[in-house]
Amino acid sequence: MFDAALKDAQARVQACFDAELARFEGVIGEAMRYTTTGGKRLRGFLVLEGARLHGVDPGDADKVAVAIEAIHAYSLVHDDLPCMDDDDLRRGHPTVHVKWDEATAVLTGDALQTFAFEVLGELIAPLRVRLALISSLAKASGAQGMVLGQALDIAAESAETPLTLEEITRLQAGKTGALIEWSGMAGAVLGEADREPLRQYAQSLGLAFQIADDILDIEGDAAKAGKRLQKDEEAGKATFVSLLGLDGAKARAKELVAQAEAALEPYGDDAANLKAAARFVITRDM
Ligand code: IPE
Ligand code: IPE
Ligand code: MG
Ligand code: MG
Ligand code: MG
Repeated sequence: MFDAALKDAQARVQACFDAELARFEGVIGEAMRYTTTGGKRLRGFLVLEGARLHGVDPGDADKVAVAIEAIHAYSLVHDDLPCMDDDDLRRGHPTVHVKWDEATAVLTGDALQTFAFEVLGELIAPLRVRLALISSLAKASGAQGMVLGQALDIAAESAETPLTLEEITRLQAGKTGALIEWSGMAGAVLGEADREPLRQYAQSLGLAFQIADDILDIEGDAAKAGKRLQKDEEAGKATFVSLLGLDGAKARAKELVAQAEAALEPYGDDAANLKAAARFVITRDM
């Protein structure tokens, strides 16, 4: 059931990207389409499931899923730049700065970011809902959210003393957590419902997701993951694994998944797919 729902979300997100990105011309348009193809679409899936739980218009849900996947893709294009993690492979293909050049990668990220807000502005949802989505996504993506987390991540590489558990939690809540939290809550925002259960779910899920990413960096198979692995330790990245060890990090991830599932109790059986997604997040190999 979860597998089918994830596949369905992947197809819907791709179809909406195909329709929405067709208008962009030239090399940036080409690079925007290139870099938004593939990926698990976990964030898009969270939006679509949350929207389904609240009976939201499916066309709007697709666009909100595309908006967050565009922000996520932008964050990856910039994350892979030589001045950040310096990676040449993403989703099984050469990164944008390798296939084109650094200027194209910077501009493609910029274009994907503004595209996300353009799409949110065009929803059929009432103005107050569009405004709530736009301002919360700006906050989650920016210098209090993803950008802050990325800055802390880079700063930690040259820190003189290892980060504390509290500091790593703050770093990861920003770099990965903020966008996942937004994805989880978006359906409740669209449906003008209580955001709290989905917010708590997505907060725990986001942390578990990044712990799994850090574990994959050590134990994963690059061919399956579609990106270079075994890089974090040498780069001096501060992760739950660097602090708690592999076993400690795995135990923490399991606890977080249990917390995520518990937060969904108000939705009962309707939330079965979201619960399965939480388990998937720590058992995935890509
Ligand atoms: C990778 O995200 C980057 C992190 C935030 C850890 P995903 O693992 O969701 O990447 P895709 O979208 O499936 O390629
Ligand atoms: C990336 O984290 C987080 C963002 C892009 C915001 P990582 O640097 O750990 O992601 P991967 O391992 O390159 O996918
Ligand atoms: Mg990084
Ligand atoms: Mg990286
Ligand atoms: Mg990583």
